[in-house]
Amino acid sequence: MDRRTLLLAAGAGGLLAACGGSSDSSGIGGRMNPGPAAGTGAATIPQGTTPALPEGQPLRSLPRLANTSSAPGVFEASLTAAPVDLELVSGVRTSFWAYNGSVPGPLIEATEGDHVRLTFVNRLEQESTVHWHGMPVPPAQDGNPMEPVPPGATRVYEFTLPDDCAASYWYHPHAHRITHEQVYRGLAGVFIVKPRVDPLPAGLIDLPLVITDLRLDAAYRIAPNTGMDYLLGREGDLLVVNGGRRPVLAAAPGATHRVRLFNATNARYLRLAFDDMAMTLIGSDGGLLAAPIAGVTELLLAPGERAEVAMTFQTNTVLRALPYDRGSMMMGGSGMLRASDAILTVHVQGTPATTIDLSSTLRPLAPLLAEDSTQRFVLGPSMMMGGMTGLTMGAFTINGRSFDMNRIDATARVGAVELWEVVNPTGMDHPFHLHGTQFQVVERVRAGVARAEPFLAWKDTVNVARGESVRFRVRQDVPGLRMYHCHILEHEDQGMMGVLKVS
Ligand code: C2O
Ligand code: CU
Ligand code: CU
Repeated sequence: MDRRTLLLAAGAGGLLAACGGSSDSSGIGGRMNPGPAAGTGAATIPQGTTPALPEGQPLRSLPRLANTSSAPGVFEASLTAAPVDLELVSGVRTSFWAYNGSVPGPLIEATEGDHVRLTFVNRLEQESTVHWHGMPVPPAQDGNPMEPVPPGATRVYEFTLPDDCAASYWYHPHAHRITHEQVYRGLAGVFIVKPRVDPLPAGLIDLPLVITDLRLDAAYRIAPNTGMDYLLGREGDLLVVNGGRRPVLAAAPGATHRVRLFNATNARYLRLAFDDMAMTLIGSDGGLLAAPIAGVTELLLAPGERAEVAMTFQTNTVLRALPYDRGSMMMGGSGMLRASDAILTVHVQGTPATTIDLSSTLRPLAPLLAEDSTQRFVLGPSMMMGGMTGLTMGAFTINGRSFDMNRIDATARVGAVELWEVVNPTGMDHPFHLHGTQFQVVERVRAGVARAEPFLAWKDTVNVARGESVRFRVRQDVPGLRMYHCHILEHEDQGMMGVLKVS
């Protein structure tokens, strides 16, 4: 067994186990078969059946990217993007593109102050990059589309994690016009930055839940995008958590979990709720809130967003994705409304554990005060301008312009607080994301009525609902070029992205 195989074997109950080689009898943890071959087991699957995946296996813990440096304060490792065949159902291979052979990619965990050096090897047949979503890394290390890593090439990403940046981040490709495909084929992973001194009490069980979705054809191959996907964004039919379909979390009664929720889908909005159980919200994209918010019955996570909740399970429950209408680019449409879907089951079992009480303050969070300047970003095309006819490849815009990496669309001064207003006159919701820093949402305006954001939080991605404007305060501290874009990846790749020059 090589190292990657061991990582997968550690998740033996999970679904994305490596395909067994001929000498392998267990069917799990067998030899990896990297290679572009797809659907080699198609003959065993009757054509025309709706693909289903095995359900109810133990929740897989994410394989962890090992630190190969022994120097204190240094995190060093390598990430290879390559095709890999995985077994979703026994005896059938599905070809994914994966980091280090794992879908989702390995969990990277480092600490504030660490110097991080990640060697990226691109074994795909197209260019790629690794973008450190939400992380405060210098522009030249952020995996922007302007700095592609060609097929077969290697590059080192190197940065130092500043103080007070502990949070649940993630990483994914950001190659020009092909990000959406690289992500839906499996390239995404999470990056947790731990604080130097943890403000939370000891004894919490840290539980990252990476939510992605899959669309498979009858032969269990990853289906390509349809024309409609390029309008609405691709949604897979099967939601998976840490690579497993409806997995089971075994929780000791009374044990308190720090659940980190990641929406790593291309376009699916996750309106999450546990049956008969409220959540205590403790964190957002940019880390802990100032104080816990108890009694949260549901959470909406747009693509790219994260949240942290504290959960103490006393009885069995189910985590569900509830229906959410995110609109449509077609007039008055609501084409993507899906039925409620169970995505994770919690089985309370075993010896009772001690419940951890969170204190009433989590960490100091200073609000960004009065802005020096204001910028406005209008997402497009608007219903009036665009309609159906404007919606061809390349028609997705911000302030009327489609992405051009050689053009500066907006400027900002280092250290200046700005108020950004993002206006959505289109028929569907768009999650707006900005690189390089975290921002604080101030208010949302709908039909002329402004509602103040109910609590302070650091965010790097915010949903801008159709017909809504979102205002946030932001400050960039590092000079260079930063991207801002819609995090529906099909929209980003078709032009709903701009370049901010910070100087
Ligand atoms: Cu997660 Cu520019 O993206
Ligand atoms: Cu990003
Ligand atoms: Cu969009």
